[in-house]
Amino acid sequence: MGGRSSPAGWRRRAPPPPPLLLLLVYECAIGNFGMPQYGGTMHGVVVYPKANTKACKPFADFGLSFNPKAGGLPVFLLVDRGDCYFTTKGWNAQTAGAAAVLVADDRAEPLITMDTPESSGKEHLENITVPSALVSKRFGDDLKTALENGDMVNVLLDWRESLPHPDERVEYEFWTNSNDECGAKCDMQMSFVRDFRGVAQVLEQRGYTQFAPHYITWYCPEAFVLSAQCRSQCINHGRYCAPDPEQDFTTGYDGKDVVVQNLIQICLFKVANESRKPWLWWDYVHDFAIRCPMKEKKYTTDCAHGVIKSLGMDIDKITQCVGDPDADEDNPVLKAEQDAQIGHGARGDVTILPTFVVNNRQYRGKLDKRAVLRAICSGFEETTEPDICLTQDIQTNQCLENNGGCWLDKNTNFTACKDTFRGRVCECPVVNGVKFVGDGYTHCEASGVGRCQINNGGCWKETRNGKSVSACSNEQAKGCKCPQGFKGDGVHGCEDVDECKERLFCQCKDCSCENTWGSYECGCGGSNMLYMREHDTCISKVATSSVGWGFMWVIFFGLGFAGVGAYAVYKYRLRSYMDSEIRAIMAQYMPLENQETSSHQRHVDHADI
Ligand SMILES: *[C@@H]1O[C@H](CO)[C@@H](O)[C@H](O)[C@H]1NC(C)=O
Ligand SMILES: *[C@@H]1O[C@H](CO)[C@@H](O)[C@H](O)[C@H]1NC(C)=O
Ligand SMILES: *[C@@H]1O[C@H](CO)[C@@H](O)[C@H](O)[C@H]1NC(C)=O
Repeated sequence: MGGRSSPAGWRRRAPPPPPLLLLLVYECAIGNFGMPQYGGTMHGVVVYPKANTKACKPFADFGLSFNPKAGGLPVFLLVDRGDCYFTTKGWNAQTAGAAAVLVADDRAEPLITMDTPESSGKEHLENITVPSALVSKRFGDDLKTALENGDMVNVLLDWRESLPHPDERVEYEFWTNSNDECGAKCDMQMSFVRDFRGVAQVLEQRGYTQFAPHYITWYCPEAFVLSAQCRSQCINHGRYCAPDPEQDFTTGYDGKDVVVQNLIQICLFKVANESRKPWLWWDYVHDFAIRCPMKEKKYTTDCAHGVIKSLGMDIDKITQCVGDPDADEDNPVLKAEQDAQIGHGARGDVTILPTFVVNNRQYRGKLDKRAVLRAICSGFEETTEPDICLTQDIQTNQCLENNGGCWLDKNTNFTACKDTFRGRVCECPVVNGVKFVGDGYTHCEASGVGRCQINNGGCWKETRNGKSVSACSNEQAKGCKCPQGFKGDGVHGCEDVDECKERLFCQCKDCSCENTWGSYECGCGGSNMLYMREHDTCISKVATSSVGWGFMWVIFFGLGFAGVGAYAVYKYRLRSYMDSEIRAIMAQYMPLENQETSSHQRHVDHADI
């Protein structure tokens, strides 16, 4: 174990007594196993077990269980460092029902990364899914004191800023090794390459990421360059070394075989990248592990060349890059690798193999397709993440429960809940091109063009006797409004206005008013009278009636004055207006005949005066 920590933000809240609310932010170190929720957060309540505080034994042996109560927050189990592997603690906490495990350091020191064991004690490694973090001794002590005092300790584990996410491209490195005989770690690495290859290639081909593989090498101290150890483990006269795969110099492959294969892989990437196909590296590494395993004694340069050939790559270029391993000189490619290994910026030295570096920060957590993809996704600036980040694979499914607390229209199932790897977001939806606007939590409504086509814009609508009335109008950008003849808020309902009772229209002498749904009907007394709806008045069907046309005369009186200087124009306008207007009115009540046309021609003349 060792290496520098990747920080995960950390908040603690301890409420009682009421005026005292502590809101503290701590850094902690993400463990190198389990599934950290890069880009997301997790809420929980801290519990320190009454017994088995180091979590080295199954909690069931002590009758303890940490499953959350119904409706309760998940339990984050606080355990002490020491006596057994970190992974054992993680597994025991997980099987007891904890949602995360916080290991309190047992000594005052800078945070370290809790790594996976090299040999024994790794049985559960594959199956640990709860995230884990190391907290400092001092913070661990504070937590225990607060818990002893009966304080409730609420914690928000926050991975949102664990990785930088400055722009729409993620740069990442995979520090790996061609050695396939190192036990669990090598097996894990191989199955990871197999699972992750496809995703990595898609991301690279579409330009979402810029990837580079890296390999750790050691060097042999000057005084030992000629020793048997260095001669079997190093190339280029002790400059570049790797440990013997089975730690036995007398049998099997030597460290220098590993260095040579690593070098071929770096060179292959270099050549592939130069021909703008960096993703070929993933194919090569995958195929090499299958075709040239140590177990079958095929871990050789010849076998490597066979794989390179199958991929259609230029062997000469790669051989040239590899150079002469026996030469007493620097190899520029391996030299660059050694330089890259030294930490720069926020990254820290790379000391754990395999290691992912995303946007120049070391990834911590299980080497698992979903977990690593999630970390890479959290490295994109918000909203620029590629589709692959929003697929089923890494969604959180938070929308399934209580609709994620977001707005939901029960009638249509339109929802504002959107599942993303960062966690759910409540964002008003776009349905069939119609945008909904609102806060996303309690309220969303269709807006803009076409909004009435979607659930009638959330407005009231009713049909009676074949007549449909709607409170939604596409001319209005949002909101509902009862149409003329109705009153109400337009959302819950619109009520017919009784124009007769409310004395709004049809109040002339001798008129008979009858309310209808959304309108009214008005009858004028006497068979020669015609009701003009627009003017709420009765006119005589007889052309010379002083009542009807006297009224018209009043209306156009103003026009008469304005038109003195341009009599012809005025007359023309008036005529065409009268023509269409009267025709329309008349048409509602009687068939228009030629004779009628000439008769209202007369009316016009009459009004002309
Ligand atoms: C891990 O999980 C797999 C699949 O669920 C199971 O077959 C295996 O036995 C588990 N291993 C351990 C050590 O629990
Ligand atoms: C791969 O190629 C790109 C441009 O083609 C370059 O910017 C990048 O630095 C190269 N990567 C490495 C690790 O050489
Ligand atoms: C909405 O979803 C619920 C639950 O899935 C379902 O029972 C209901 O029929 C759906 N309603 C519509 C209009 O699709």
